[in-house]
Amino acid sequence: MKKMVQLAHDFLKEYTKPNAICADFTMGNGHDTLLLCQLAKNGHVYAFDIQESAITKTKQRLQEAGYEHVSLIHDTHAHLNKYIKEPFDIGIFNFGYLPNDNHHVTTTLTETAPAIQSAFQQLRHHGYLILVVYPGHAEGKKEAMYIQQWCEAQLVEQASILQIQMIQKQSAPKLYLIEKLIG
Ligand SMILES: C[S@@+](CC[C@H](N)C(=O)[O-])C[C@H]1O[C@@H](n2cnc3c(N)ncnc32)[C@H](O)[C@@H]1O
Repeated sequence: MKKMVQLAHDFLKEYTKPNAICADFTMGNGHDTLLLCQLAKNGHVYAFDIQESAITKTKQRLQEAGYEHVSLIHDTHAHLNKYIKEPFDIGIFNFGYLPNDNHHVTTTLTETAPAIQSAFQQLRHHGYLILVVYPGHAEGKKEAMYIQQWCEAQLVEQASILQIQMIQKQSAPKLYLIEKLIG
């Protein structure tokens, strides 16, 4: 069975147009940023991370691939409105920490909650947000509860939301695909 990140990439491939304005709100090692650069070759990609090492690694990855239509932003995704001044078409949050890195540097609900609200506000009509959530660790559990409640609170006229999760294991990663239905 595919992992949630692979399913998230399937959605990115399906919905990212060549001229799309995209956002990777958790850059990490830059895999999602690279995919967005490949898919939106005539658009622009904004990528955020609070770790300097994420910027360095991603910059190198993108330089090797020859992509320049990207802004690498060393700041929290909670400040996304400072950098993204235009409506964007598609955005991904891959929450948590880098698997082979410092597990203490993880996304936190304090930043995640305002970031999701701002991202949804800035998202274009019929744009998509993809969230990959990891309830298997303490902070991830808080994020998962918040995101579930936030999604359930969206009116059907405002957003169409698909949730994918392994039903036998509550701590397994969850994937949300959110389409914005309001302008
Ligand atoms: C699971 S990793 C992302 C993996 C990444 N998308 C990739 O392709 O390698 C989560 C990342 O979120 C970053 N992060 C944590 N808090 C953040 C915040 N407030 N704003 C932006 N990034 C944050 C971490 O530094 C970490 O690199």
